[in-house]
Amino acid sequence: MNKTLTKTFILLLVITAFSCKTESNNSNANTSEATTPYDAKVDSLMSLMTPQEKIGQTVMYSGGWSVTGPVVSSNNQKFIKEGSVGAMLNVYSVKGTRDLQKMAVEETRLGIPLLFGYDVIHGFKTIFPINLGLAASWDLEDIEKGSRIAAEEASAEGIHWTFAPMVDIARDPRWGRISEGAGEDVYLGSEIAKAYVKGFQGDDLSKHNTILACAKHFVGYGAAQAGRDYHTVNMGMDELRNVYLPPFEAAVDAGVETFMTAFNEVNGVPATGNKFIFRDILRDEWGFNGFVVTDYTAINELVMHGFAEDRKHATELAIKAGVDQDMMSSANREFLEELANEGTVNIALINDACRRILLAKYKLGLFDDPYRYCDEQREKEVVYKPEFLEAARKSAAMCSVLLKNDDETLPLDKNQTIALIGPLVKDKENILGNWGAAGDRKGKAISIHQGIQDYVADSKIIFAKGCEIEGDDASEFGQAISAARRADKVVMVLGEDYDMSGEAASRTNIKLPGRQTDLIKAIRKAVPNKKIILVLMNGRPLDLSEEDILADAILETWFPGTSGGYGVADVLFGAYNPSAKLPVTFPRTLGQVPIYYNMKNTGRPIPDHDPHEDYKSHYLDTPNTPLYPFGHGLSYTTFEYSDTEFSSKIIGFSDTLTVSATITNTGDYDGYEVVQFYVHDKVGSITRPVKELKGFQKVFLKKGESKTVSFELSAEDLKFYNLEEFTVEPGVFEIAIKGTSDFDFEQSFILE
Ligand code: BGC
Repeated sequence: MNKTLTKTFILLLVITAFSCKTESNNSNANTSEATTPYDAKVDSLMSLMTPQEKIGQTVMYSGGWSVTGPVVSSNNQKFIKEGSVGAMLNVYSVKGTRDLQKMAVEETRLGIPLLFGYDVIHGFKTIFPINLGLAASWDLEDIEKGSRIAAEEASAEGIHWTFAPMVDIARDPRWGRISEGAGEDVYLGSEIAKAYVKGFQGDDLSKHNTILACAKHFVGYGAAQAGRDYHTVNMGMDELRNVYLPPFEAAVDAGVETFMTAFNEVNGVPATGNKFIFRDILRDEWGFNGFVVTDYTAINELVMHGFAEDRKHATELAIKAGVDQDMMSSANREFLEELANEGTVNIALINDACRRILLAKYKLGLFDDPYRYCDEQREKEVVYKPEFLEAARKSAAMCSVLLKNDDETLPLDKNQTIALIGPLVKDKENILGNWGAAGDRKGKAISIHQGIQDYVADSKIIFAKGCEIEGDDASEFGQAISAARRADKVVMVLGEDYDMSGEAASRTNIKLPGRQTDLIKAIRKAVPNKKIILVLMNGRPLDLSEEDILADAILETWFPGTSGGYGVADVLFGAYNPSAKLPVTFPRTLGQVPIYYNMKNTGRPIPDHDPHEDYKSHYLDTPNTPLYPFGHGLSYTTFEYSDTEFSSKIIGFSDTLTVSATITNTGDYDGYEVVQFYVHDKVGSITRPVKELKGFQKVFLKKGESKTVSFELSAEDLKFYNLEEFTVEPGVFEIAIKGTSDFDFEQSFILE
């Protein structure tokens, strides 16, 4: 038989087998064996696969991208044609993905389609605010909508799978990847994890506009020692179980299809070779059925960790630990077959990995039509749709946190002359943030300058750059000072470069880089009585202790994305009344790090009456409190909280407690308020945090309006891991409904 005939024959066999199996599968639809409608199809395909072809599914290579098109090395093409590649990353566009898909489908023995993965982190072409900024919206609907839009665009360019969300808790602003997550809190992080997964995966993966999500980086990546990326992670079971694992479990609950390993070690065992976290927790405890991909070259790195003798040993350790797909190590392709032949790796492990990956391809509908994500017409219609750009604008407004607003400095008055000063005023490149994905960093992005021009006549704007983001040059300070002198108000747009956060971008100094703080100082000196508004773009909490003194108002916009300039201007001019709240603590100084709202009390907390009392847990030179706490964020209006009421002061283990409070808009603007619900478990068999967020709601209140906001709490919500098991313990719980984490509890209830 010639090659084409052989292939047709095999495919016919597969199809026949598929239909027979499908029937028997349907008849078993409600039995525990029929876990997915595709199991029978996967089985019959696998019965035709050689061990090499199965291993091929566990291999991923990177394409790479240049302006003229995807660059795929000839080796990659050779491997694809051999059937020894299951997935590609960093290839996108209809043309780019179709060309490679054709190779896999038409030039391999079984024609198994490739999976195309890409880092669609906060948008694909239409870029939304960075993830830390998105978390500041505390708006789950908006986050889900943003990731839905990202999936629409990415899928229209041939992408099947995003390496997102990153659900790593992060409490160290030195770590550049703090920008990619939802901040420091377990509850907020878990809710946001679910919203991303729902947005990317939608309600039906077989639709052509839904993509696989990937919870990463499992686990502990955010706890790198000293905030240095990839560094060692050592944490006890309290922290691992009660803080770092829950957002991942939430992603599993939301149906996330894939997981990515972390680069770091966890208590001496690198994550990519860590059986405890992948087999014992992820698979056995949580029942995760999707597939696990390594982070980029992470199998090879087991050698550098000093955990594997060589790459072959690393390959063995990874698959035994529960890794299914190898991103870029080439290790599975080079060593798995040999390991299986010599009996070091059981072929059953390879079968499992292959099965899980094929299953994902079936779920996406790639076996029905491998080109279903390659439709030029859809690509043209979907990418940068006006409604997507509008949604990104709204997000940028919703994510901007008003940190400070003395004397109602903001909103701006359209009739006043504004000095627009700073290196980021006209920026269109940094504004997209570190994971700009396939976004256009030039033409499409809207700078803050453009956003402001939409509100104010050009004659009312005096621009001066003042200085660069980094570097020592102060030669343009004079022009900036002159601009400030000629204006009614000064708006300064300062911050970090986009690549000062993100992967491998840790800093040991979290102040504004370069001469930017000196620039504000110079302007403050020159115009002591003029209002200075500081607009920030940055990927981490910064030490703003000096800026807090110098500026009258501070708006934290993170990196606000493609429509960022418009969204930020909407806030500056009051078209959107700011409602965002910090998802992460801003320290007074780096020396306080790690600092987060739900710390433990210690045996020697500082007493209220004397914060300096000797032999208490404090610093000699800085208060314990942060500059801006978690949950903080101002509005142009004011909200008053009153009448916190309980459905009962004593509840049993099967009861639900309802707690409510009245929130009144007491200011002059309509606006949203993020109402936060905190609990403190006063005594536990292991110590409990001083505060824990257990719920939040974003409510809209017209000026003068009051609303009652209620939260429900069950014993299940109070469970924690006590070093042996998850437990809920009876006792006294303090409780509060507030607009920030900075408060003292005044009310309690009893669980008995
Ligand atoms: C990052 C991942 C990312 C992967 C693929 C790695 O370096 O750690 O977060 O998904 O590259 O681009």
